[in-house]
Amino acid sequence: MSDQVKKPVGITETVLRDAHQSLIATRMPTELMLPIVETMDKVGYHSVECWGGATFDASLRFLHEDPWERLRKLRAGFKNTKLQMLFRGQNILGYNHYPDDVVEYFVQKSIANGIDIIRIFDCLNDLRNLETAVKATNKEGGHAQIALSYTLGDAYTLDYWMNISKQIEEMGAHSICIKDMAGLLVPYEADKLIRAMKSATKLPIQLHTHYTSGVASMTYLKAVEAGVDVIDCAISPFSMGTSQPATEVMVETFKGTEYDTGYDQKVLAEIADYFRPYREECIKSGLLNPKVLGVNIKTLLYQVPGGMLSNMVSQLKEQHAEDKYEEVLKEIPRVRKDYGEPPLVTPSSQIVGTQAIMNVLMGERYKVATGQSKDLLAGKYGQTVKPFNPEVQKKVIGDAEVITCRPADLLEPGLAKFEEEVKQWKQQDEDTLSYALFPQVATEFFKYRQAQQEKVDLAEADTKNGAYPV
Ligand code: CO
Repeated sequence: MSDQVKKPVGITETVLRDAHQSLIATRMPTELMLPIVETMDKVGYHSVECWGGATFDASLRFLHEDPWERLRKLRAGFKNTKLQMLFRGQNILGYNHYPDDVVEYFVQKSIANGIDIIRIFDCLNDLRNLETAVKATNKEGGHAQIALSYTLGDAYTLDYWMNISKQIEEMGAHSICIKDMAGLLVPYEADKLIRAMKSATKLPIQLHTHYTSGVASMTYLKAVEAGVDVIDCAISPFSMGTSQPATEVMVETFKGTEYDTGYDQKVLAEIADYFRPYREECIKSGLLNPKVLGVNIKTLLYQVPGGMLSNMVSQLKEQHAEDKYEEVLKEIPRVRKDYGEPPLVTPSSQIVGTQAIMNVLMGERYKVATGQSKDLLAGKYGQTVKPFNPEVQKKVIGDAEVITCRPADLLEPGLAKFEEEVKQWKQQDEDTLSYALFPQVATEFFKYRQAQQEKVDLAEADTKNGAYPV
């Protein structure tokens, strides 16, 4: 390999965000992460994804942790590695559209507390929903990566991906990610897709997939050969299944080739050794269900993300209608078509999935529609790649107004209101943002935090009173 041109592929390590979000419902606590940070910092990863997505909600709700505190601690430990987060466009990390001032402030505080790369996506790939976050990231000196939700369907031709890549470059983003949340991108399609996108844009391209359907590492191999710049992987104990391909395996695959990452397997082994007992513990406690570690071929056959399938099973169970599983599976692509063929990712996956279940259980399509279905068909989530089915739209929202502008243009600034509401609990600027995204969950957390602090104060007072007997 003497005169070979080196084109090392970068790896984003996901164990601190997507891997545990996908395998153990985002329950990895900060204290478990910190002891291994120094070692992880030696690898030379392109970046470590460690924040955003569901981690914010899960920290506050289930772990009673301040997500901002987690970010600051990780930042202090990762002295050489770029930290990356996942950001849901105008939804930030929540489930509604937020006004621009809240989006801007969130970006500002994320970067101020230690994030380098913000991966921003929208469930409809409506780039208007990403504009504010991209601009704010650029303004704060961060790296704005736009992630395209990958999906299949009539509308998603190579031309579609090439055109949207050009638009992303024009928007001023620093890189593009193909976010294949369902593991639908198969190896030879990846080759075509990456080559097409590479011909349309000069921006670096990163590929994010999940092992759900069993093809992920082959897809990475073809994508790297086709010129992809960075791939997302998880250290082996938290890899595969609904998570990402194993970091060590991809590193070894490219060793000695022009794509060689140059990462040291000994350091990676140390990291794997550290996480392995935790994996065993999670299997024992039931937090990690071995079921999610296998191959779910249904996701390829029905083009439905694995998480959506498991939600569907539990929703049907609740309704004592498990026998309707196959029928609902067939209804999902039909609802998706009616709704303008959106990618299926939070929140569009829930909107389509829940409506498909209702259509089947009610025995009449769109007899009853969810509030979210109504909002989607009224344009409140943004623009879909194809038009809505006009008959379905009429049946669901009647003569209600349909908007075609960027949905956040209709929102009044919101920060001042949140500041006022959170006043009583506020201990740091960031509390306003926690509250804005999850008012109830954040308030519960603030109460918990206060109670903990009072306990500490009491203990200190006791020590002072009794520590120096005369
Ligand atoms: Co993912």
